[in-house]
Amino acid sequence: MQDLAAFLSSNAGSMKKSVIRELLKLTNQSDIISFAGGLPAPETFPVQELREASDRVFEKYGTIALQYGTTEGDNDLKARLVEYESAQGVSLGMQNLLITSASQQALDMLPKIFLDPGDYVIAGRPTYVGAIQAIQSYQGKMLGIPFSASNDGFDMVELEKRYERAKSQRKRIKYIYLIPDFQNPSGICWSVEKRRAIIEFAYREDLFIVEDSPYREIRFIGESIPSIYQLEQGMENRGIVINLKTFSKILAPGTRIGWVIAREDIIQKMVVAKQAMDLCTSVLTQKMIAEFMATGKLRNTIERTCGIYRDKRNFMLEKLEEYMPKRFDLTWTKPEGGLFLWLSLPHYIDTEKLFYKATEKKVAYVVGSAFYFDEPEVNSMRINFSYSSFAQIDEGIHRLAEVIKDEIDSYEAGSRGQTSPEGL
Ligand SMILES: Cc1ncc(COP(=O)(O)O)c(C=O)c1O
Repeated sequence: MQDLAAFLSSNAGSMKKSVIRELLKLTNQSDIISFAGGLPAPETFPVQELREASDRVFEKYGTIALQYGTTEGDNDLKARLVEYESAQGVSLGMQNLLITSASQQALDMLPKIFLDPGDYVIAGRPTYVGAIQAIQSYQGKMLGIPFSASNDGFDMVELEKRYERAKSQRKRIKYIYLIPDFQNPSGICWSVEKRRAIIEFAYREDLFIVEDSPYREIRFIGESIPSIYQLEQGMENRGIVINLKTFSKILAPGTRIGWVIAREDIIQKMVVAKQAMDLCTSVLTQKMIAEFMATGKLRNTIERTCGIYRDKRNFMLEKLEEYMPKRFDLTWTKPEGGLFLWLSLPHYIDTEKLFYKATEKKVAYVVGSAFYFDEPEVNSMRINFSYSSFAQIDEGIHRLAEVIKDEIDSYEAGSRGQTSPEGL
């Protein structure tokens, strides 16, 4: 048999399996309560309305809906999206839109068109694992920036320091990758001041910003903050921001439809990249969503979804308070939106090792280290609150708290042993 490794391209060689997907395989047993996946709640999917929308598509368009479409995307859907974005204060025309097979495809296109092997992307530490995979699969490198202590965006002092060091080492940096609204995995939401500051930084250093916004509309507490795309339009409007949006979290991820908002020349380059990937996104699904949007029910779906997630998030926070040991070094975020909580554990707990003990106790999470592309922090985990039922959240957090308590107890018993009088 031929040795596959000898035939692989250097790009394929640099592709890494997602740790999340590998670990998730362990959680496929029916009795495990999994807080690991990033799945939206199925009860938020408007099944009947989408079914009716798709019936109307067949009545109105017949074979056209089953034909190839343009790479740029279906004009009916694009017109709806222009309306939808304009209502949120973004000014754009059809030429500024590209329909993608959801945001993950756009995340793959960007390094494809911007990066030569060894080029750098600036990103938060931690950041979305699917973006790391895409960048690394084109042999891109990443410059990690920690978040500020107040969780309002990057630590800007560290950004300047690390950027200067990278420049002095002649590293070629192409764009900054950000998830400013309820970041996956940390739940961090950037303040408007930090959003402006990162635009100023990108202007000064002549960089693009990729703003990935799958959770932007999933805000269930507080006021919405303008997107970086929107803010830049009100500043020098140089068109340096590329905004990725998706129906995955506001409608249903199985539709696999997303959209990119950007300057026309960037959209055109992405169109060429997309032609080689899939020719076009499913016409049938695009038309179904356009029909659904025409009913005006997307807003209601989003509001309902936010209500359900607010309740689940509050319930999970209550259960964490109730079951987790009370310690200064065991903390969790309280995000105002999105799908995830981020837990920081005592420094001696390696959540990758703990994962196997947790699955024995029939509860699962995502290890924090999966979201680091450099020097991972091993004592953190991401837990999802959107997918599980209230009863599962109650039982799952109880099990997780027991696993963590056992780990703390056995560490403390061990360190007491080491400092016992005989040992001194
Ligand atoms: C930050 C971020 N970007 C992009 C995606 C990809 O989403 P999709 O391809 O379903 O639009 C996800 C999925 O969870 C995500 O969390």
